[in-house]
Amino acid sequence: MAKRQINLKKLLSRMTIDEKIGQLMQLNADFFINTDAEATGPVGNIGINAEALPLVGSALNFHGVNEMRAIQDKHLASDPNKIPMIFMMDVIHGYRTIIPIPLAQGCSFDPELVEEATRMTSREAASGGINVTFTPMVDYIRDARWGRVMESFSEDVRLNCILAAAEVRGFRGDGLSDRESLATCAKHFVGYGAVEAGRDYNLTELSEHALRQYYLPSFKACIDAGVDMIMPSYNPLNGIPPVCNPFIMKQILKKEWKFNGVVISDYNAIGELIRHGVAENKKEAARLAFDCGCTVEMMSTAYHNHLRELIEEGVFTEKQLDCEVMKVLKLKKALGLFDDPYRGASEELEAAVCLTPENRAIARRMARECAVLLKNDGTLPFSLDTKKIALIGPFADSNEIKGFWSCCGKDEECVSVAEGVRALMPNAEIRIVPATTPKIDGNTDGFPEAIEAAEWADAVVLCLGEHQKYSGEGNSRTDIRLPGTQNELCTAVCAVNKNSAVLLFNGRPLDLCAIDAAAPAILDMFFPGSEGGNAAAELLFGVHNPCGKLSVSFPKSTGQCPITYTRISTGRPKKKPEGVHESFISNYIDCGNLPLFFFGQGLSYTEFRYESMTLSAKEIAPGETLKVEITLKNTGARTGKEVVELYMRDRFSSTVRPLQELLAFKKIELAPSESRTVTFEIEESMLALVRADGTVGSESGEFDLMVGYADHFVLRDSFTLK
Ligand code: NOJ
Repeated sequence: MAKRQINLKKLLSRMTIDEKIGQLMQLNADFFINTDAEATGPVGNIGINAEALPLVGSALNFHGVNEMRAIQDKHLASDPNKIPMIFMMDVIHGYRTIIPIPLAQGCSFDPELVEEATRMTSREAASGGINVTFTPMVDYIRDARWGRVMESFSEDVRLNCILAAAEVRGFRGDGLSDRESLATCAKHFVGYGAVEAGRDYNLTELSEHALRQYYLPSFKACIDAGVDMIMPSYNPLNGIPPVCNPFIMKQILKKEWKFNGVVISDYNAIGELIRHGVAENKKEAARLAFDCGCTVEMMSTAYHNHLRELIEEGVFTEKQLDCEVMKVLKLKKALGLFDDPYRGASEELEAAVCLTPENRAIARRMARECAVLLKNDGTLPFSLDTKKIALIGPFADSNEIKGFWSCCGKDEECVSVAEGVRALMPNAEIRIVPATTPKIDGNTDGFPEAIEAAEWADAVVLCLGEHQKYSGEGNSRTDIRLPGTQNELCTAVCAVNKNSAVLLFNGRPLDLCAIDAAAPAILDMFFPGSEGGNAAAELLFGVHNPCGKLSVSFPKSTGQCPITYTRISTGRPKKKPEGVHESFISNYIDCGNLPLFFFGQGLSYTEFRYESMTLSAKEIAPGETLKVEITLKNTGARTGKEVVELYMRDRFSSTVRPLQELLAFKKIELAPSESRTVTFEIEESMLALVRADGTVGSESGEFDLMVGYADHFVLRDSFTLK
């Protein structure tokens, strides 16, 4: 394709106001071509007529590369300026080859792996005609009731920042001119993870301290990594919906962070300002959002219907409009769309690039690295000589394991547990009994058959979990136990066969108390994606050794939500053992304060012994670096990977800080009897906090260092920052 010499300034100077406003609109692909594309929000009559469509600058949710090409062709034939459309989609955890959900990716504690798998995803999605992905989702999450916890990497700020940056790098590669790269969009800015009562789209009230300490850093990390776009969230934040919230949009994003990329509203979020009651009509909604620097309006038509009027009335200047339009044009140019409006995407390329054995191998490796062995009394791994295997439970032979945001992935392209176990154990006899459903409508009709199979088997895998549509957008729960009758199924089966292990599929932390009480072993796969069944089989039968560590705490009960390992001491800390109630102390009458499974927890089939922690100094001055050396040894009989986790506690500070905060981590592999010393370099900036006067920085004083996982430390030391 011949290169078009494009001068954006000249192009802009030729455009009419309506043509410019068209660049700031995004509609679902089905507005351009009638399809049965699934909308991710209410469509209906949104107030645009067919004559305006040729001017619309971008589309989301198209179905397949041919549809993209058809829309682009139709557009270029009728757009007076021949400005290519830009195509966006939610490529959250894979395009066709589906990788584990982000919450599971967090459990890998492996930024290189996240970047590598994201690059594979980027290649696939670009071949299918996607230019921009609405990812990373970097919401700070603490409430398992909220279905969207599955989209975030972790409850930990630092881990979330590191993996989000890795994802941005994975999509952007060496730059957007590379046709295998995608532009990225960090979302949801900001505070969405704190929606009241964990109910999606609900309001959030957050102090500036909480915003700056916990909620904003992941967005800043994305910007530092080169993210192209930002999407404000749905939740009214401190009374004002983010898309028109001057504090976060003008003060933080533009003034403090100098973000100059495209801001895109969430789906109909500008339209919804009317339902929020902060805008009386669409014109006011357009005024509020444009004033706060929202460049593109997704799936509502306030800009389309009223921006021209607002400029003619002098509320905004055409120069302001030009500035926003230029951001869109620049992004299109950076992506090479003026040179090739399809960016090389075609059906042939897509077929060649997607779901290849190499891509499946990455997905399989990642599914293994993300799985967390939560409990094991020695039952796992099962012997490779096992003769009679019972796979019991709703996920025994289900391929519905890709998870909520799996873009163009198909259930039928996912490997089920039964398929994985059959492939690995061709000589074993396998019985499959789903017994109940992964939904709240489960019954006990299948229990007798399940018990019979469990009595017959040498080894039982209880494949339990939540339906994949029980997490993700709009899917909040008030009860985070396994849905339906699965707890009862687990108790009944484990009672008749002690050689049982639970294999979990879930999109959120669950209350696993009943499972923990009944099952000798629990392996959590989350939603592992296309290769889930193969990865599960390899872990269950010990071909590979589990190494994931929880990126979120698993509460003991829904009532503990919101919960995070970064809890504070309180003025009345608990002293008595977990579960013993103390009066006038910060605790519960009917439940402990701690989770059931802890942040950073995860077992292996081998054992690691932490031998020493050595500090380069007992005191450092501001600007100096502290070296921390941690030595550990694989004392077990198998090669295994371990995540070395270093935590800190700031003993005294002008604002209240958590009892434990992840400071650094590194994943290493050790052969039996092998020792290794891992070195962390702790810079002063890593000790920073939001101070009492609102500034950010470190404060002098004593810091504790701890090694292990949340609330379970095996090595401790301390140092002073002068
Ligand atoms: C609504 C969701 O909140 C957002 O995450 C997503 O990117 C858009 N819909 C587009 O599908």
